[in-house]
Amino acid sequence: TDIQRIRNFSIVAHIDHGKSTLADRLIQLTGTVAERDMKAQMLDAMDIERERGITIKANSVRIDYPAQDGHTYVLNLIDTPGHVDFAYEVSRSMQAVEGSLLVVDASQGVEAQTLANVYQAIDADHEIVPVLNKIDLPAAEPERVKEQIEDVIGIDASESVMISAKTGLGIPDVLEAIVQRLPAPVGDRDKPLKAMLVDSWYDSYLGVVVLIRVMDGVIKKGDQIKMMKSAATYKLDRLAVLKPQMVDIPELGPGEIGVFTASIKQVRDTKVGDTITHEKKPCAAALPGFKPSIPVVFCGLFPVDANDFEALRDAIEKLQLNDASFSSEMETSAALGFGFRCGFLGLLHLEVIRDRLEREYDLDLITTAPSVVFKLHMKDGEVLDLHNPADMPDLTYVDHIEEPRIKATILVPDEYLGDVLKLCQDRRGIQMDLTYAGSRAMVVYDLPLAEVVFDFYDRLKSVTKGYASFDYQITGYREDFLVKMSILVNDEPVDALSIMVHRDRADSRGRAMCEKLKDLIPRHMFKIPIQAAIGGRVIARETLSAMRKDVTAKCYGGDATRKKKLLEKQKAGKKKMRQFGKVEIPQSAFIAALKMD
Ligand code: GTP
Repeated sequence: TDIQRIRNFSIVAHIDHGKSTLADRLIQLTGTVAERDMKAQMLDAMDIERERGITIKANSVRIDYPAQDGHTYVLNLIDTPGHVDFAYEVSRSMQAVEGSLLVVDASQGVEAQTLANVYQAIDADHEIVPVLNKIDLPAAEPERVKEQIEDVIGIDASESVMISAKTGLGIPDVLEAIVQRLPAPVGDRDKPLKAMLVDSWYDSYLGVVVLIRVMDGVIKKGDQIKMMKSAATYKLDRLAVLKPQMVDIPELGPGEIGVFTASIKQVRDTKVGDTITHEKKPCAAALPGFKPSIPVVFCGLFPVDANDFEALRDAIEKLQLNDASFSSEMETSAALGFGFRCGFLGLLHLEVIRDRLEREYDLDLITTAPSVVFKLHMKDGEVLDLHNPADMPDLTYVDHIEEPRIKATILVPDEYLGDVLKLCQDRRGIQMDLTYAGSRAMVVYDLPLAEVVFDFYDRLKSVTKGYASFDYQITGYREDFLVKMSILVNDEPVDALSIMVHRDRADSRGRAMCEKLKDLIPRHMFKIPIQAAIGGRVIARETLSAMRKDVTAKCYGGDATRKKKLLEKQKAGKKKMRQFGKVEIPQSAFIAALKMD
């Protein structure tokens, strides 16, 4: 393909502003997919993504577009994941294209993820075409939103394209804008091959499929290639473009985007951001800015039924085939038995994986409290990563502890600002900025990630009735007065309930957890003390009094069916319980006890 006739772009948008619908329309209008094969949201491959309406993995499509100037252009859309957990993948996808469509819902305006993603596009030197979507809605205010884009983002919005991705209005204008306003890629066909590994996924028929963007040189089927970071070499089996199904192609030149297979066994062997070159005639330098994605949030996953351990191991291995950023290590807990300590890129990532394990693999799981990675600076100078509060060493060996901090950006309508500030303050936040864009406030907070991983999203949504949008970036580690708090039930420590907490907040957290557990644990035939402790010192205590009556006692006399039902119900309830010494704790208690409200 003539490089002048290529346009590579991505679509940046806040969740629900219509990115997938617009992509579908572009594919449909250009006849890339036959009408009968068109299913809504073509690009969201996984069911779970479709159900939850979130796009997780970057994906791509090549569109042939006959433009008004009489030439046919190749338009490559790289779909970027919309969520913060995948910020690094977003930044790589951005490096692979020259321009972005900035889609903003004209009835909603700019939101936190719009900002986070558009800044990534600006960082990547993109030409940006603002697209105002949903102008079919009576509540659409395109003029106000244009102003907002100019005020908040600082780009010219006077030539925004007005569309309704739903009705198809304005879609031809989007295609023309891509051709006329976005630049063609630059690259040199005669230089050694230099291509970026943008994404990869596991396909059960093809093995690992690798999405690449060629910068310089030409890649052909049968080529012997080398990944510069991993230093592994492969022979290309198959080279193709995505339309969006794979269509074989003999070669890809500079500016082009496509996929290859090369008998690569696992996604783990393909590092996003790596540089691909020819083994024999390599390029001089790798592409800049490579960094591997590392898990930042950890939690334990345990089968409710100990017999499901092998099934859980298999399911985790299967999911890892496709997701190299999800890590796991076997863990044994005195309380929960055998399970896995798993690492994730963020909270949403955790939720998605847990959901898939439960639904696709039909497993009942106990998830322990998510924890961030703390850095333990030991007195002997060693620095340890603490992934699990249960592994906290004796404090006498620890000099100080550091925790990860984030920069959080929250956009919220005026009337909820007070509640948002209070929430951030309660979570040990430090306010860094507060500005207004129309009737919406934009607040920036420096917060400990540990205070956000658990239920911050939920709290934020509930205090703002769903009107706030939130985004964050990890900024680094900082020392604080952190301690491990243990929970003892009937004088036995329950390791799955230990947490790392700021010393100033330990007393109130401890009290709250004991109170909660008192309600969550059913009464037994004996009195049960529930305590929170730091080291050997108890900081909170509740007592669950003994059960007075047999549950069936109130079923007077002869009603045998009712009595049977009650006993069955009790038995079913048991399955969801874990035994701790003499005490049974319901599975639901583990998460519920940790919620802060
Ligand atoms: P994520 O995949 O979650 O990031 O969302 P998205 O940005 O891809 O949004 P999506 O395309 O799924 O659209 C979100 C909702 O808005 C869907 O219910 C669409 O039907 C609806 N929608 C999209 N475009 C329009 C439009 O032009 N007008 C109206 N009225 N609704 C639209």
